[in-house]
Amino acid sequence: MAIQEDVDDDDTDINPVTMIFPEDQQQDEGIVLISPTVEEREANQHHYLRSVESTVEIRQLRSQGLSFQLWPAATALVTLLDHHRSHPTTSPLALTLSAFPTGRRLRILELGSGTGLVGIAAAATLGAYVTVTDLPHVIPNLQFNAEANSEAVARHSGVVHVAPLRWGEIDDFEAIGRDYDLVLGSDVVYHDRLYDPLIQTLRFLLLGGEKKMVFLMAHLRRWKKESAFFKRARKLFDVEVIHADRPSDGSRVGVLVYRFAPKGQILNSLGS
Ligand SMILES: C[S@@+](CC[C@H](N)C(=O)[O-])C[C@H]1O[C@@H](n2cnc3c(N)ncnc32)[C@H](O)[C@@H]1O
Repeated sequence: MAIQEDVDDDDTDINPVTMIFPEDQQQDEGIVLISPTVEEREANQHHYLRSVESTVEIRQLRSQGLSFQLWPAATALVTLLDHHRSHPTTSPLALTLSAFPTGRRLRILELGSGTGLVGIAAAATLGAYVTVTDLPHVIPNLQFNAEANSEAVARHSGVVHVAPLRWGEIDDFEAIGRDYDLVLGSDVVYHDRLYDPLIQTLRFLLLGGEKKMVFLMAHLRRWKKESAFFKRARKLFDVEVIHADRPSDGSRVGVLVYRFAPKGQILNSLGS
């Protein structure tokens, strides 16, 4: 059963200052917070995946911008993937992931991967072939992180491939294709100028071909204006909240995980 969203079209008031927010966006919005030291900002992050007894190490280059740091929804989605591997029938991802055919590697596309943690963790926990994507200038760090974790991922039959994908760019759509079972994203709804390009990208992937695909998106809500993205998305897709994280200290909202599917899609026949 779908989880009730804690928001409606009128929106509750959300104070972005109580939430983790990357610095360049804070500057855009006129928000000033105390910055961590350079050492803290650039430090590698280690994420232990209990289900596969492996640690994923992620290089952040926070001084280079928001694409080079880990956002909170990524960590929430990784925790869910890890939990799913240990509890595949009862996890919030069970209904979605059990709908794929067994006996072959899942093919996953991640949008706006940033540091790549989600895609790398998905490859390791699901033994999947994952293509992590982002804007061209983000690719070198994404490649670095994919290579740094390739042995741990391969130990669990996963593969991570890195490719540029600019949302809303037809040439990039054609290059990336639609040969995936599942699309992932975390914290990809954050700037209103990106709502339409992201929706165009989802439209191409989920509605443009014969193959049935779904999009799982982890999202931490920060701004009232994000309702506009969800309104537009609901015109095209069935959008359900499949998991709600508890708010972390000082926040009124936690990370929500959404499933977007073509309207009327029956979930027990995905990936065909
Ligand atoms: C807020 S960050 C989230 C990064 C990562 N998913 C995470 O949760 O840690 C948003 C990501 O979307 C990417 N992005 C922004 N605009 C994009 C576009 N037009 N096409 C593709 N990726 C884009 C950014 O480069 C960035 O990596």
